[in-house]
This record gives sequence, C-alpha cells and structure tokens, in this order.
Amino acid sequence: MNESLAVTDQATQPKTAPKAPALPDAQTVTFVKHWTDRLFSFRVTRPASLRFRSGEFVMIGLMGDPDEKTGKQKPILRAYSIASPSWDEELEFYSIKVPDGPLTSKLQNIKEGDQIILRPKPVGTLVHDALLPGKRLWFFATGTGFAPFASLLREPQTYEDYEEVVITHTCRTVGELAYGAALIEEIKQDEMLAELMGEDFHKKIRYYPTTTREESPKMGRITDLMRKGEVFEDLGIKPINPEDDRAMVCGNLAFNLEIKEMLEDYGLEEGANSDPKQYVVEKAFVD
Ligand code: A2P
Repeated sequence: MNESLAVTDQATQPKTAPKAPALPDAQTVTFVKHWTDRLFSFRVTRPASLRFRSGEFVMIGLMGDPDEKTGKQKPILRAYSIASPSWDEELEFYSIKVPDGPLTSKLQNIKEGDQIILRPKPVGTLVHDALLPGKRLWFFATGTGFAPFASLLREPQTYEDYEEVVITHTCRTVGELAYGAALIEEIKQDEMLAELMGEDFHKKIRYYPTTTREESPKMGRITDLMRKGEVFEDLGIKPINPEDDRAMVCGNLAFNLEIKEMLEDYGLEEGANSDPKQYVVEKAFVD
C-alpha cells in the first residue's frame, strides 16, 4: 500500500472503528507439539480461578467462520480431557487431527501466542472420588484416551492411594504411543514427584503399551490380551478381581463397551462421583 492510499484510508475510517471482538474465555497457547500427522498436544495459560480434579474435562474450542448471511461467528466447542495435573500452572491437552473435523481441522494449526476458548467448568467421572479404595489401579486407554491418565499419572494422590498403577495404551501404530511413552519417562525423572512421593514412587507404574496395526514388542488389542491372560502373565499379577483392583477406562466407544463388559465379568461395578464403586468409564474426545 502506498502512503497516499494509506492516508485516504485513514481519513475515511470512522474515528472509533470497532475492535475485533475479544474471544470469550480466551486463553493463550504457550506450547504446541505434533507427535504424528494424526496427533498433537498443546499447553495454554490457566485461568486463575480454575480449580479441577485430575482426570476431569472442560469444553475448549475456537471461533467458527463468519456466517455467510449475518457475518456472525459462533464458537465451536468440544469436550477435552485436561492432560495436565491439578497442580500444574498451565493446562495441557492431547488431540487427534481430523481432516474434516469442524474443530480439529482448525485447532491443529494453532501456534504459540494464539488464543483458544476455554469454558472454565470442569466435569467428569475419571476421578479418584468415583472409586472405592483398592490396591491396584488400572488405566485402560486407546488413542487420545490417554489424556486423562496423563493428568492422573502426574497426580500425587494416585500413588498415595494405590500400591500399583497399571497403564495400558493400545494404538494403531508405534508413533501413536509416543506421547504416552514420553510422559512416562518424564514422570520417572520428575524430581518434584520423587520428593513428594519418595524416590521409588515410579516403581509403582506398570506401563503396558500395545499396537494393532504396526509391529511392536507387544501386539494386539488389550481386550484380547486380557482374555488370553497374557497381560496378567506379562505383568506377573493376578487377574482382575473386585477386592484388589480398580479401573478407569477412556477410549473409543467400541473399546469402552467391550472392556466395560469384561470388567463386569471380573466382578467390578461401575461407580460415579455420587456413588463410588470399582470402575469408571469416559469416551475419548473424537471430532
Ligand atoms: P484396531 O486397529 O484393531 O481397530 P482408533 O485409532 O480407531 O480410535 O483406535 C485406537 C486403538 O483402539 C486401535 O489400536 C484399535 O485397534 C483399538 N480398538 C478399537 N476398537 C477396539 C475394541 N473394541 N477393543 C479393543 N481395542 C479396540
């Protein structure tokens, strides 16, 4: 633009030009990492007033495109598990990228300094309060269902309440296990957790990753591996029973239904915030 045009432009602009509307409940992106062409994680600032329990989810999103007729923009919001623990200064999320997904097709392009919408009303059933005391806690995840467990694995209460924590993660490919694998490594090196929980706290974590569509040390769906007894043999622990074991499940719908039935067969009952029992389930976010 040349200077004279710029001057003309300014002269024709109303003095109080309306500003672009600020996003409601805006938070600023502080970090983005792409793990595969289908998966990424990101961190945002945390509203000072937001309190949540590790394992809960919130609605997050972006403004949609302006309506063709009215020019108005509406927010596109989806439920996302908070992947960071309740004590963290920031909030972390782990997301799939769906090429035609109304939200994730846009969200996958966010960069440090961008803003997202975050409604500060945390809810969810994957919380310690929804389970009765037990010896061993199982986290069963597929795909991005790992997110709430990324929160709970960094939550000191998890190690205070249980003698052992088994985290199973089934993904299609080895690359899709990377976020979880990196997190487990990070936890093992975490000085703050070690100071709080004792040097050996991480020995309570039994990590059991499996893949279904790419070669890896342990292949197969976790449900099949449990039916065959292979999981219990590999880990050297007794099959799941209602006296010792508690479970949290987060994955795709078919997985949730299948494992729910299996847990019921082992004698576990589904709990809720208002009625704690032996296991709880939540659907992983899918666009
Ligand atoms: P599979 O490759 O055999 O379908 P997705 O990426 O589609 O959400 O799937 C994540 C992982 O969950 C995949 O490894 C997939 O295995 C597995 N999975 C899908 N449905 C079930 C189910 N009903 N029980 C156990 N695992 C499942």
